[in-house]
Amino acid sequence: MITVRSPGRVNIIGEHTDYALGYVMPMAIQLGTTFTAEPSLDGRTCIFSEAMKEELCFGDELVREGKWIDYVKGVYYAIRSRGLRYMHVSGRLSGDLPMSSGLSSSASLEMAIAVAQNELARLGLSRLDLARLGVTAENEFLGIPSGILDQFAAVMGKEGRAVFTDTETLNYEYVPVPEDVEFLVFHTGIRRAVAGTEYSDRVKVVKSALRALGVSSSKYVREEQLSRLNELQRKRLGYVIRENSRVLAVRDALRSGDVVTAGKILTEAHWDLARNYEVSVPELDFFVEFATSHGAYGARLTGAGFGGAAIALVDRGKGEQLGREAEEEYVRRFPHRPQHWVVTPAEGARVIDVRP
Ligand code: GLA
Repeated sequence: MITVRSPGRVNIIGEHTDYALGYVMPMAIQLGTTFTAEPSLDGRTCIFSEAMKEELCFGDELVREGKWIDYVKGVYYAIRSRGLRYMHVSGRLSGDLPMSSGLSSSASLEMAIAVAQNELARLGLSRLDLARLGVTAENEFLGIPSGILDQFAAVMGKEGRAVFTDTETLNYEYVPVPEDVEFLVFHTGIRRAVAGTEYSDRVKVVKSALRALGVSSSKYVREEQLSRLNELQRKRLGYVIRENSRVLAVRDALRSGDVVTAGKILTEAHWDLARNYEVSVPELDFFVEFATSHGAYGARLTGAGFGGAAIALVDRGKGEQLGREAEEEYVRRFPHRPQHWVVTPAEGARVIDVRP
């Protein structure tokens, strides 16, 4: 029997850049998924989810059901499509990551399954290969055109470090997050998964803009080339290329311990996302305004947007109180139930226990 712990992630900066093969800088967080599994002998996988309070089973047919188990099947599908063999298991999922919250509960689940399979079925896959399994599961099995950001963060996460990544080359670099700061995560209580059409619409426009310019990655696009695009493509890709520069700037600011500059850029990124990428909602904007006017260095939505969560960069020890104050004001204005957590960079998905 093995136990795997797989984290959720917060994307510090570099939003909606991964499918444009630009830069991202996420970190894994303490909230995550725990998966306990042992080989099953009847040619079926049966998994009990504590969050859903149900057990679901499947054999080798691997068809989509429109349920949470699809993420498990998707990883099996990805293993099979590489000519490898998964092992059927009997398992139990638990965790403390809210679903559809912008904190990548699905990638956390996928990487929990992938790490467990790597161990039990002796697949011999690298961490990068495991992240790629998750992307295949999303793109090909679930039909979601997402990039590699979430799975990469979930497997590459490191305590105390953000993971600066070039999503074209997949070269990455650990960037220390100064010890005197922490991130407050504020969940708006609006659950909106990337399965919606807003996300895939953004992907389509940006990819069509890159095609029109004849480049593979948004890293190679210069501001003056944007005039060759239609208005919507210009607006969206314009955001992406500014965001790529912001990732580099935040990386450099964190490296030199300049949290004031890092924070300012985070806030700037939020308003660019809201105005030009149009993925924010009033609830996220409220939090960004509240946090930045109550002592945060900066704040922005994290993940795909359209609800979900936002983050604020604050002095260590200040996040909890800011979270409580933001919640108090939030419930006076909006009809949702918010939640908040204080996080620092955590380790990526790994086996934490093995028993005979
Ligand atoms: C979701 C997707 C990621 C990424 C973000 C936006 O989390 O799964 O691949 O595109 O949205 O940055």
